[in-house]
Amino acid sequence: MSDPVRFSLEGTVARIVIDNPPVNVLSQAVRRGLMAAFDAAETSGAKRVVLSGAERAFVAGSDTREFDLPPQPPYLPDIFARIEAFPLPVVAAINGAALGGGLELALVCAARVAVPGAQLGMPEVTLGVVPGAGGTQRLPRLIGFGAALSLISEGRVIGATEARELGLVDLLAADAADEAARLVLPDRAATGAMPAPPRDADAVETARTRAARRARDQIAPQKAIDLVDAATRLPLKEGLALERETFLTLKTSDQAAALRHVFFAERAAMARGRKGGAAIETAVVVGGGTMGSAISYALAQGGTTVALVETDTAAVERARTVIAGLYAEAVARGKLSSGAADAALAARHSFHVGYDDLPPAQIAIEAVVEDLTVKRQVFAALDAALPPDTILATNTSYLDPNAIAEGLRNPERFLGLHFFSPAHVMKLVEVIRAGETSPETLATVLRLAGRLRKIPVLAGVCDGFIGNRILTGYRQICDVMLLEGCLPAQVDAAMRDFGMAMGPYEVQDLSGLDIAHANRKRLGWAERTDLRYVPIADRIVEETGRLGRKTGAGWYDYAGGEAQRAPLIEAMVIEASARAGLTRRAFTDAEIAERASAAMIVEGLRILEEGIAADAADIDLVMVHGYGFPRWRGGPMHLAERTGLPEILARIAGYAAADPLSWSVPGNLRRAVAGGQGLEAVRTD
Ligand code: NAI
Repeated sequence: MSDPVRFSLEGTVARIVIDNPPVNVLSQAVRRGLMAAFDAAETSGAKRVVLSGAERAFVAGSDTREFDLPPQPPYLPDIFARIEAFPLPVVAAINGAALGGGLELALVCAARVAVPGAQLGMPEVTLGVVPGAGGTQRLPRLIGFGAALSLISEGRVIGATEARELGLVDLLAADAADEAARLVLPDRAATGAMPAPPRDADAVETARTRAARRARDQIAPQKAIDLVDAATRLPLKEGLALERETFLTLKTSDQAAALRHVFFAERAAMARGRKGGAAIETAVVVGGGTMGSAISYALAQGGTTVALVETDTAAVERARTVIAGLYAEAVARGKLSSGAADAALAARHSFHVGYDDLPPAQIAIEAVVEDLTVKRQVFAALDAALPPDTILATNTSYLDPNAIAEGLRNPERFLGLHFFSPAHVMKLVEVIRAGETSPETLATVLRLAGRLRKIPVLAGVCDGFIGNRILTGYRQICDVMLLEGCLPAQVDAAMRDFGMAMGPYEVQDLSGLDIAHANRKRLGWAERTDLRYVPIADRIVEETGRLGRKTGAGWYDYAGGEAQRAPLIEAMVIEASARAGLTRRAFTDAEIAERASAAMIVEGLRILEEGIAADAADIDLVMVHGYGFPRWRGGPMHLAERTGLPEILARIAGYAAADPLSWSVPGNLRRAVAGGQGLEAVRTD
């Protein structure tokens, strides 16, 4: 391995280059190397130091792998204090990403030159911490209170031009290192020696409200606001000490551990798309409804040409209008120019009634109604109309992909590709390995997911795959709690308090009660003896016709638009308890959240046991990205691990003792606890 920090002398310029591939993070070796390089610079006779990163990044942050360890010397604050007080001017040549500790490093330099493509920011709060080496104290001194507050508390990453406008960067130049060697130094104090900026109470208020909304229940953004606020009244030294203390406390917090876990899980999932497979340039999408239209748009945005198939011209026109609407939305949000939108719409989309004039395509994605017979007809038609090696994918939510694929030529090219709605926004996609799916097919689809900037999670075939299966288990336990004494509004409030984006009954009203109803019918729930059938949801659909928001009423009433508790439904709930011969009892919110999350954990463990998911972290990704599980809790499986598997086992065993029809202890959990192991022991691969 080459030296992580290189020193050289060119005339009177000492060049220090951080070279720690891939993105020059400030590992312990880099920190040591920096100290040595500055030692060398100090005695080199140079008149200036230019500091840059090797390859395409400046410094993308601290080394997140060291987060689980106690701090290792030399410490960043000490290195930065030295650079800021260095006898020679140090100029940062920001040749690429300067993030977190990387930007803090740039801040202690006397000036900053950035390439136009550089990205700058302090995304620490997104990992549950705050900048820990001066960022919260120096950034406001350099760019002002309001700007620093919003950048740090939102963890926003900005481009070089915006950074230049904010005064974070002194000059933009294509060859940043060269310019940094020449730059006439600005006549100003070191960043840390600048006067504290005036406090702006309105800006604090705005930042707090935004953080409460964007990062509900998260500690780090609020702490970051406290710290930037403190910079207005504390001398630098005290501000730095307070920041460091806050950083070290947050680093070991539950929230930071959870956010790190999700971050690493995302990275691992996205890396799957970089392991070979063919590049997809052409696609067919069958069905231009909610999902098919958004999938087509997402594919085209990823550079793929898409032929959309519908049943008749009216449906084609509907789909065309929906897709044009998605482009218009992107234009309105400033994501696309209207010229680019028109060009993409004309060049990348074609619309077809039936299969006769379909161009050949590398993949066909089916998103027609959730009906086995219809889906089979669609695949038979695709099989006949397209080349024999075209990958065939179904977006089914619950149907058995193997049943859909029956009779296909070359079934090794068939798989499930389960997008989430809205498909052009939601990053999650479940990639379902069907019975005969080949590794090449998987690799190509994972690569496509990467091109669409999605987070692909591999799943095997079972009812509902990973996400909808856990959702079903979770809802079932919520329904049982209704029977035992809760009301829908209480369960929803408890789960929102727990951190879910929405409560389970609000979600049903949003997505429509008919889908789950049809699914229970298909699976014969009312007759099943292996679960505690709770008839409330089916009665709502069958006896009242309330299907949720789309009919103006569901679990709640929506007169006037806002959800209101529905006396009719609450009476049905209470009546259901009486019919079941149960005496209703009070539940605390904590009890509701514990039970409901235990239901998700149990289903997750079963999914692992059956090999449906390869890894607990994948399950967490699905729940966080597809079902509104709070990211700062890390997903149900991470939560189980963090709570302690013995504690989780005890809870589930307790529930099972009281209600053996609804609960049983998964064998892998029992084994892991008996062996004193964590969830890594219940992996299947
Ligand atoms: P949708 O009802 O909005 O759209 C279905 C479309 O398919 C309609 O435009 C219909 O005209 C068209 N269609 C029906 N038969 C066809 C045929 N033989 N050939 C071509 N087009 C045909 O339904 P949605 O919500 O888009 O769902 C489609 C599929 O995606 C279903 O399997 C559903 O389970 C699945 N899914 C739905 C999600 C959602 O949130 N809506 C999420 C994930 C998957």
